[in-house]
Amino acid sequence: MNVLLGVCGGIAACKAPELVRELGRADCRVRCILTPAASSFCAPLALEILSGHEVWDESYLRPGTGGVEQHVELGQWADVLLVAPATANTISRLAWGLADDLLTTTALMVDGPVVVAPAMHATMWEHPAVRESVARLRQRGVRVVGPDVGPLASGELGVGRLAELPAIASAVLAAASSGDLAGRRVVVTAGPTWEAVDSVRFLANRSSGRMGFAIAERAARRGAVVRLISGPSALAAPHGVERRDVTSALEMLEAVREECEGADVVVMAAAVADYRPASAAAGKLKKRDGGLESIALVENPDILAELARMAPDAVRVGFAAETEDLIENARQKLASKGAHLLVANDVSRRDIGFDSHDNEVVVLRREGEPVRIGKRGKGEVADGILDLVRGELDARTRSAVIS
Ligand code: PMT
Repeated sequence: MNVLLGVCGGIAACKAPELVRELGRADCRVRCILTPAASSFCAPLALEILSGHEVWDESYLRPGTGGVEQHVELGQWADVLLVAPATANTISRLAWGLADDLLTTTALMVDGPVVVAPAMHATMWEHPAVRESVARLRQRGVRVVGPDVGPLASGELGVGRLAELPAIASAVLAAASSGDLAGRRVVVTAGPTWEAVDSVRFLANRSSGRMGFAIAERAARRGAVVRLISGPSALAAPHGVERRDVTSALEMLEAVREECEGADVVVMAAAVADYRPASAAAGKLKKRDGGLESIALVENPDILAELARMAPDAVRVGFAAETEDLIENARQKLASKGAHLLVANDVSRRDIGFDSHDNEVVVLRREGEPVRIGKRGKGEVADGILDLVRGELDARTRSAVIS
């Protein structure tokens, strides 16, 4: 998603480089415009390096720079316009449609959503002129995020601090989202499970959690209330997603049992171990001459298969990690595990599947042809899977209306 970040002149502008980073972490491409006052608070070079694009300011409006039409190109490029920090001055000019600098001129070229994150002194924020401008922007559908309460540049305490950067990024993602999963409760599992051999060793697999985290993140972006149940993973919880950590398959089963009550959708992207050691040694197993002959394994419960009983009304999505006969094996899992959608994942390749940034899958349905989602980032694959989930939810709504 393309985010055009307008930075205005206030002390909070020093947070703009970190905001560019935050948006980057959320898979956004960012370009920046600085108002004339902003460069006193924020070095354009920092924004240029972090965004990977040149930074635009008033110098582009001068004839002979070849940038006179810059507002047209930038406005058309932007999926979302974010103004952060937004000063009282810029808020008022945006509210009344003034176009007397590059940022406000470009704002009139943006036909996508606009998000504004104000930052100013508490007295300015409470001034009727600013209240009126903010109300006018809200009426036009502009999202206003913050300001927060806290210490201000003046040293006083009050409302006027720039909102937390993750909250601003979440507002941008939400503004651009279709919202087609709004109000839906979605449970996602991700990552590996660790099955203890002794007090320090375990059986595990190469799952990083990326695929499941991407599904959780995209579902939240589309308006769902998301619970992410994760096996051990170094990833940070996506914006707006509530995370619950577990270690073993038995713990994951318990967490899924509790969280799936009332869920509309359950997605099992976790790589759950099929087996666990029959018993875990209390301490660290001693090395013995001649080797360790065997570790007795017992079968773990199949969480996806049990979901049919635990969440009979939910749309149930499973994955199949296969190294051979991808479609045939996945088709068997679709039937035997009672899933509505089964995402077939070829894990014999190193460029997709386990511990990679990209994926390529085929989604099998109970009815209808399989849907291939070609190789792309896991975020986009997640969106493709969620489009099919939405199709299932829509079909249920239609059949409920008919009957
Ligand atoms: O985490 P990443 O590095 O991003 O990698 C992503 C992934 C490869 C792990 C993911 O895309 C994937 O394929 N996840 C499923 C892995 C797996 O366990 O596949 P399976 O074919 O063994 O299991 C089939 C389904 O049953 C899965 O939905 C699995 O969650 C579920 N299952 C398996 C065993 C078990 N005891 N209980 C289960 O619920």
